[in-house]
Amino acid sequence: MFIKNAWYVAGWSTDFDRTLRAETFLGERIVLYRQQDGTPVALENACPHRKLPLSQGRLIGDMVECGYHGLTFDCTGQCVAAPTQPDAIPRRAVVRSYPVVDRYRLLWIWMGDPALANPDQIFHIANFDNPDWGYTDGGVLDIACHYLWVCDNLLDPSHVAWVHVTSFAGAGTDNAPLDLSRSDTGVTVSRWIYGQPPSPYYTGLVRFQGPCDRLQHYEMQLPGIALNKSVYTPAGTGGPDAAAVADTYVNISYNFMTPIDTDNTRYFWFQHRNTDPEDQAISDKMNAGARLAFEEDRAVLEEVHKGMKTPVTPAIDLGLDAGAKAFRLMVDRAIAAER
Ligand code: FES
Ligand SMILES: [Fe+2]
Repeated sequence: MFIKNAWYVAGWSTDFDRTLRAETFLGERIVLYRQQDGTPVALENACPHRKLPLSQGRLIGDMVECGYHGLTFDCTGQCVAAPTQPDAIPRRAVVRSYPVVDRYRLLWIWMGDPALANPDQIFHIANFDNPDWGYTDGGVLDIACHYLWVCDNLLDPSHVAWVHVTSFAGAGTDNAPLDLSRSDTGVTVSRWIYGQPPSPYYTGLVRFQGPCDRLQHYEMQLPGIALNKSVYTPAGTGGPDAAAVADTYVNISYNFMTPIDTDNTRYFWFQHRNTDPEDQAISDKMNAGARLAFEEDRAVLEEVHKGMKTPVTPAIDLGLDAGAKAFRLMVDRAIAAER
């Protein structure tokens, strides 16, 4: 149903501390916390005795004590104490543990076979440590839809013309031709739109005057990470083979979709730009604008999920769906390969 052998975002690193935090990812109940030295831990959130969530117990040092009869588990999920029968810890008293890693201000969780978890495979964010780039604080939003509807949306540059009228829409976003490309791990839908004013969201952020050449680059990577790049460059300097010029403005919106279950998605994002690294006012304005836009997406996607789950008549596809269909095929193949 989901790709398991992959790194998903579990939350912002600052979300996790010395409290037991209950989450559901890919339909699996998980409890997360930090050891006293800050190391993150993720365990199956169900005591093997009567399946009480361990999140209802308490932390004792780096260990979790069940709140029903006190079975106590270490960070690897092994039971190390059974207070009601201290000399006979049941051999099968063990909970699953999930590899977790802090990176890019996010906590990443590996949902598959722990033996295959390699932190080098965490999605790479270029320029993250580049002091010339600035990032927004980012955010999180729960959307009541299957995560692939969000992925579809993030491979669809056309929807901005209708859904994001006051932010990302602009001349050509409705019908300029789309390019589709595939790699081993992802799909990109993109297009250049030439000689237009910046869209409302980017007005004031783009530092040059006059018309722009604009790139919409919508890229999805397995299992559900979107890199949404916007480039604005003075008219005449853009295009697929053009090099950046001094004024070229680049903003990359990173979007991380983690399935909660088949009907719910946790959507994390932040933006990363090649200008004004220290300007918090710009970061705050961009972040607020992004949240507004993603709320617009949520309103659509929750209804799409409901409508597509119980269609009365068959749904049709449009040409704009080619990228989404290519990515869904890639997801299906990855799931089949894991079986
Ligand atoms: S349910 Fe956890 S010890 Fe009984
Ligand atoms: Fe959108």
